[in-house]
Amino acid sequence: MGTIRKVLVTGGAGYIGSVAARLLLRAGYAVVVVDNLYQGHRAAVPPQAHWARVDLADKNALRAVFAQHPDVDAVMHFAAYTLVGESMAQPLKYLRDNLVNACNLLEVMLEHGVLRFILSSTANLFDLPPEHQDQPITEEFPIIPGSPYGESKFFVERVLHWLHRTHGLKYVSLRYFNAAGALPDCGEDHDPETHLIPLVLQVALGQRSHITIFGDDYPTRDGTCVRDYIHVADLAQAHILALEALDTLGARHYNLGNGTGYTVKEVIETARRITGHPIPAVIGPRRPGDPAVLVASSERIRRELGWAPQYPDLESIVRSAWEWHRAHPNGYED
Ligand SMILES: NC(=O)c1ccc[n+]([C@@H]2O[C@H](COP(=O)([O-])OP(=O)(O)OC[C@H]3O[C@@H](n4cnc5c(N)ncnc54)[C@H](O)[C@@H]3O)[C@@H](O)[C@H]2O)c1
Repeated sequence: MGTIRKVLVTGGAGYIGSVAARLLLRAGYAVVVVDNLYQGHRAAVPPQAHWARVDLADKNALRAVFAQHPDVDAVMHFAAYTLVGESMAQPLKYLRDNLVNACNLLEVMLEHGVLRFILSSTANLFDLPPEHQDQPITEEFPIIPGSPYGESKFFVERVLHWLHRTHGLKYVSLRYFNAAGALPDCGEDHDPETHLIPLVLQVALGQRSHITIFGDDYPTRDGTCVRDYIHVADLAQAHILALEALDTLGARHYNLGNGTGYTVKEVIETARRITGHPIPAVIGPRRPGDPAVLVASSERIRRELGWAPQYPDLESIVRSAWEWHRAHPNGYED
């Protein structure tokens, strides 16, 4: 199918997509960023990337981008609604829009003969019963989405499966666990912010009075949810490895995490140590859609693609996030 030179990155103004765009550029690829700035920031898009403010709901606008860049060889699809909690309150926004937007993108790709695709999928596919919860989650575990958000990602995986069979689409679905951390010039700035590490760091910056822990009665070592945190640069690197292996892989799914789970309380404690701030915590009710434990087995991607995280420990992940938040206390508004 030839060499990959130009990659279209949807959601490339968002947290993970903007880091992937940078790493792609550093690796020598040309990059086209497509984003409607629903959550993303124009300032997060690397200056060397081509930029198109387009909503994936607008197929004609997407067609114009592909017509302007007929040399796009592959697509990395980060753009989506991403909030588990919101998806429990507004399920159709997720079940419909995440699916339709991905289908629009795939339809326009097929029209232009672009047959390489990498999906941002999620650990929310694995809301597993208790007997599965004390072992790292492999790709063989049953798919039990924990929310309409997770279900919407599974829908898209099914679409990819069928387009592989019907049209020879080559795809990799990367099911990431909790993305965290920052590059010096590229960090996490969501509104609303729902992710634990940036919220905790906002307390350390004096922007919030306390952090709320959603439930301390889960069946875990300290009663709070266990999650597997993965540095955003390690995630982005996995995308590049997947891109380079896409033509030989054909169709593949990988779970992506560090294989170590940390409780919410342990994350807060780590942030206290790194920031020197007491970070007061308050216990609140459970958040609907949150599984108790999510820890990845990434053996498959390590073995098949040689993925090796550079920041496997929570300490270095939180430290990199803290450095970014301290330097950009108002996020990309600075
Ligand atoms: N952050 C995590 O921990 C995590 C974990 C698992 C999976 N994911 C997935 O990774 C991807 C990126 O996550 P993120 O944390 O960087 O989210 P993000 O919200 O920062 O980035 C998503 C980007 O997509 C854009 N977007 C949304 N809808 C769009 C549309 N209709 N048209 C064009 N652009 C649109 C937003 O403006 C935003 O810039 C998402 O698909 C998310 O579901 C994230």
